[in-house]
Formats: sequence, C-alpha cells, structure tokens
Amino acid sequence: MKQSPRHHFYRTAPAYVMTNEDLRWVNTIVNPHAQRVLTVAASGDHPLFYQLFGATHVDTFDISYCAKLITDIKCAAIRSLDLSQYSQLIFNLFNAPCVTELPHMTDTIMPQLGSLAQKFIKKYDRSYIFSNGIQPALYYKNFLPTPNEYQKLQQMNINSFHFINTDIQLLHTQCPNKYDIINLSNIFEYIHDTNIIKDTLCHLGHLLHMGGKIIVHQTEILTNTQQNNYYHISQQLAPWARMGIYVKDKTKDICQPTAIILQKINEIIR
Ligand SMILES: C[S@@+](CC[C@H](N)C(=O)[O-])C[C@H]1O[C@@H](n2cnc3c(N)ncnc32)[C@H](O)[C@@H]1O
Repeated sequence: MKQSPRHHFYRTAPAYVMTNEDLRWVNTIVNPHAQRVLTVAASGDHPLFYQLFGATHVDTFDISYCAKLITDIKCAAIRSLDLSQYSQLIFNLFNAPCVTELPHMTDTIMPQLGSLAQKFIKKYDRSYIFSNGIQPALYYKNFLPTPNEYQKLQQMNINSFHFINTDIQLLHTQCPNKYDIINLSNIFEYIHDTNIIKDTLCHLGHLLHMGGKIIVHQTEILTNTQQNNYYHISQQLAPWARMGIYVKDKTKDICQPTAIILQKINEIIR
C-alpha cells in the first residue's frame, strides 16, 4: 500500500469538532432514507446526520481515533445535555487547553465513554486533540443541529456507532458488511495519486449493494485538474459505475460544496 500523506492525518491526529460541510444539501442529492451507511467519522456529524435523515444502520471509519472520540462525546452529550449546553461544549472542545476541565466533561460525558476512550482522553488531555479546522463558533454554527433535529436525535438515544480505525486504502479489508451509501468526505483532497483514488473506489465498490452510491464530498468547487482526474477515473470504472458531479450553486464563488457521486450499476468483475 502506498502511504497516504501522514503529515495530515494519522492515529492521534486532532479531530474536527464540527463539520464544515452542508450535510443537509448532500442529503437532498442522495436521499438516504432507510438505508445502510458507512461514513468517515470525522467530526461525528456525518454519522449523526445520516441517522437523523433516516438511515437504518450507520458504521464509521477514520484513520484518527480522535474522530471516534468526538463522535462518542457527541452521542453522550446529546443523551444528557440541552442544545445550548451541547453547542457550548462543542465550541469549547475546539482548542481546549485541557479537555477534562471543561464543564460537563468529567461529571457527565466521561463516565458514558468506553474505557479506551477515557484512557485516550486522559493521556492526550493537554494535546489539543480536537483542534483541527477553524473556529466552529465563528464559521460553522449554522451546521449545528436545529432544535427540531436535536430533539429527534435525543429521541433516537444513540449509544455509539461501530468504528473501524483504518486508513481508507485498507477499509475494504476490514469491513465485512454491505452498504447503500459510503460517504468519503474530504479525504481524496489529500491523496494526490489518481491511481490510489481509483483503486480505493474500486475496492469500496465491492462493499456496495447494487444501486448503492459512494459520495466523495469536497467543500470547494473542483479545480480543472481534479475534474479531469475524476472523469478519467469514471471512464476506468465505467463497466460497473456511473459518476455524476453536483455543485450546490454554480453561479456563486469557489467556496461551493461539490459532491462526486459514483453509483454501482453492474457487478464488478474481478
Ligand atoms: C479530511 S477531514 C475533513 C472534515 C470534514 N469535512 C467534516 O465535515 O468533518 C475528514 C476526516 O477524514 C479522515 N481521514 C483523512 N485521511 C484519511 C485516510 N487516508 N483514511 C481514513 N481517514 C482519513 C480525517 O482523520 C478526518 O477525520
């Protein structure tokens, strides 16, 4: 396996505390009602939103264990805090000099986490393990759950999501299940070898049900080179997949969410 760029993401790489993606928009394109989903854990917002939008089963993966931590912290917080306490906790976690000293962490959240998660947080307590991305309170607060969404999430009483701690290139070797949606957000931006992207998509195609979709989300419009690369990849995957590229609003600036969607339309011949 060629290495993904380790300087960006690795097992203890800091997690994003909040998504920087318009997950509600992505939902309008893929409509994942009552489906099985495998998603990057990232900030934990992807699994939560897929569950909220009607997925019946959600599994997660990430190269960073901190992504599992923020996901579990969010599940515990939703079970026990109101929306304003939840939002404050998320904003505080970003760049917190000492995670366990934040309000609600020691008394409410930590006791609900598994023993490995508790050990990990204590070990890396002062290492800014939730500091990836930019200040969520300033930039992404509209991606918090709305009061209605939060209430629904509370009613779902989500305990946690199955988590596979792996590089995306090995994900197919560690996942025995099949899915209707596989969500890969902002990962391929950091993998510059088109062959690795193509091979990864092909391996993950084996985990899709017929008609299932792989979503490759990017927070900005594709550059010409990226677009050409994806068209080239889609030609090579054409026997089993068809690709579409969706931009939220083409008339606006380059900071427009883009989703490359690959749908499985035939069996993959090995
Ligand atoms: C690139 S980040 C972007 C944040 C994302 N847009 C969100 O909304 O949370 C997404 C996640 O991908 C994970 N990741 C990056 N490269 C990976 C790889 N090669 N294999 C598995 N996960 C990876 C990171 O650890 C991070 O949690």
